[in-house]
Amino acid sequence: MALPEGFLEDLKFRNPVEDVISSYVSLKRAGSNLVGLCPFHNEKSPSFTVFPATRGFYCFGCGAGGDAITFIMKAENLDYIGAVEHLCKRAGMEMPEDDHAGRRGDSDVKKARVYAANRDAARFYHDMLSKPEGQAGLAYLRSRGLTDAVIRRFGLGFAPDEFTLRKNLFLDHMLGLGYTEKELLASFLCAKSQKNGRLYPIFRNRVMFPVIDLTGEVVAFGGRVMDDSKPKYLNSSDTPGFKKSRTLFALNYARHACEERLILCEGYMDVIAVHAAGMPGAVATLGTAITAEQARIMARYTKEVVIAYDMDDAGRRAAEKAIALLDGVGVRTKILKLNGAKDPDEFIRKFGADAFRLRLDDSENQFDYRCSVVIASHDLEDFNDRMACISELTALLSTLHTDVERDVYIGRLADKLGVSRDSLKNDVTRARKRQEKTQKTEQTRRQIQKTAGYGDRINPDRAKFRRAASAEESILGILLLYPELLSETAGGAEGLREEEFLTAFNRRVYAFLLSCTAEHGRFESGYLGEVFSDEEIGRITGMQVAHTQLTRNDMSVIRDNITVLREEGAKEKQKSTDLSADDLQNLIRSRRGE
Ligand code: GTP
Ligand code: MN
Repeated sequence: MALPEGFLEDLKFRNPVEDVISSYVSLKRAGSNLVGLCPFHNEKSPSFTVFPATRGFYCFGCGAGGDAITFIMKAENLDYIGAVEHLCKRAGMEMPEDDHAGRRGDSDVKKARVYAANRDAARFYHDMLSKPEGQAGLAYLRSRGLTDAVIRRFGLGFAPDEFTLRKNLFLDHMLGLGYTEKELLASFLCAKSQKNGRLYPIFRNRVMFPVIDLTGEVVAFGGRVMDDSKPKYLNSSDTPGFKKSRTLFALNYARHACEERLILCEGYMDVIAVHAAGMPGAVATLGTAITAEQARIMARYTKEVVIAYDMDDAGRRAAEKAIALLDGVGVRTKILKLNGAKDPDEFIRKFGADAFRLRLDDSENQFDYRCSVVIASHDLEDFNDRMACISELTALLSTLHTDVERDVYIGRLADKLGVSRDSLKNDVTRARKRQEKTQKTEQTRRQIQKTAGYGDRINPDRAKFRRAASAEESILGILLLYPELLSETAGGAEGLREEEFLTAFNRRVYAFLLSCTAEHGRFESGYLGEVFSDEEIGRITGMQVAHTQLTRNDMSVIRDNITVLREEGAKEKQKSTDLSADDLQNLIRSRRGE
């Protein structure tokens, strides 16, 4: 990548890793390092360690690790360049420009220009509310119960009806600010007429909802009509600076208020109404069903999501999908039941904020909801259908973990289904026994796989080449700590070559050390984020950390490990020739007809 030489070192120098991390984790000194509770997994005693000397962090509990850039990637859910930008801002440094160009590969318009255009557009739409051309918009927003303070907080605005007005208000404004046609097209703010090739604004005669990302940039807009015309909402498509599937409306506010629970709504208006009612922990997807990426993002900020969707058929299906995805990332889910209103916005307007808060507190948990779905899908008057329903519920009940929970639900459901508690309880016990048995087999299977190393997703070869892998990791650990030893390790006729590594992941790391040094003069861990994933960087940091704690880390240790690695390599070679000798014998035997 085209970051200027020395830029990452400078960036990390001006963003000491302990300072960056201490705004997220409360750290205590422990010798020359600092320790705290890991923000990436749940723990009671601190295993998260910051190493100011190597400018890195590592969690001995979950294996997360890296440098200040990796930390920001994980903590703020940003990609590599996003994290670099974040740290630039933090230190008041200038982001090098040329690197933005085409970074997403789908446009040659710079991301920074898209953001700037969006920001200026948002300002334009908002300012319209105090101009004669925007009075219709202001009246609409007020008619929906929004106060000036809320309008300001969310930066709401109005896109004037330019075709009817026969004025180019938006276009003239943006061109006047120096944006090019290309930039306005790439930002999804304007489109080009097929007929006469002229540029025209996409959003017209709509109230505007800007979407702000976690770094505070305006990345997209939603625009709503003020009557019943279609489409009701127009949302920005993906642009060089925006991916709908990984963005959540209002997460920029909600993330500071959602540790305990996050409220997931369907629409912009719902989120705004919930915030305005004094509960800032609400977000919405941008007019699409929730994606796995969005579920993962939510998991970074909260333990529990309350799903506040419309309870029509579509809403129910969307809720099922959300439950499944959130389940998959370990987030508890609850369903909010809003009787007498179709969505949170309507509910709050009809019954008030306090009623909504009460509903939140006793919102149905996922289990209740699943039971009610099962029951609703069967005709309990029909004998066969009722039996099918009971057996589905039995399976569901047997997944509850505690006796207390099971007893509570067995009681409730037995009454509802008109069967005795005892018989339902017996069914559940039998189902649990069956499940335990399959679980045990599954567990043993997993245990065997784990000891064999199959579970190692990062370096699957590790299991096959145990001794070689540890030698490789020692070599890499020392080199990561003392990059200056690389030339001696790799140089000369006897130098260690990339092909001599037996495991694929470690080979990749070594290749990266070599290419990074060739390209930049020396290895800098800040470059890792370009090609390795969070998890992989954690593993790499782990190798380095293992050696930080050893006293002998010199060339002689590297040489010893190269020897081990070469012995193992030779054995492997031998094995493959042995194998072909076997094959040969088999062949001879089969010829002889044995
Ligand atoms: P109000 O009718 O203003 O209360 O809107 P709402 O926020 O309650 O919207 P609704 O429940 O109808 O839709 C939920 C979300 O789906 C909206 O916030 C939009 O993001 C999206 N959406 C709704 N209608 C459309 C549409 O016609 N096109 C697109 N692309 N998205 C839509
Ligand atoms: Mn609504």
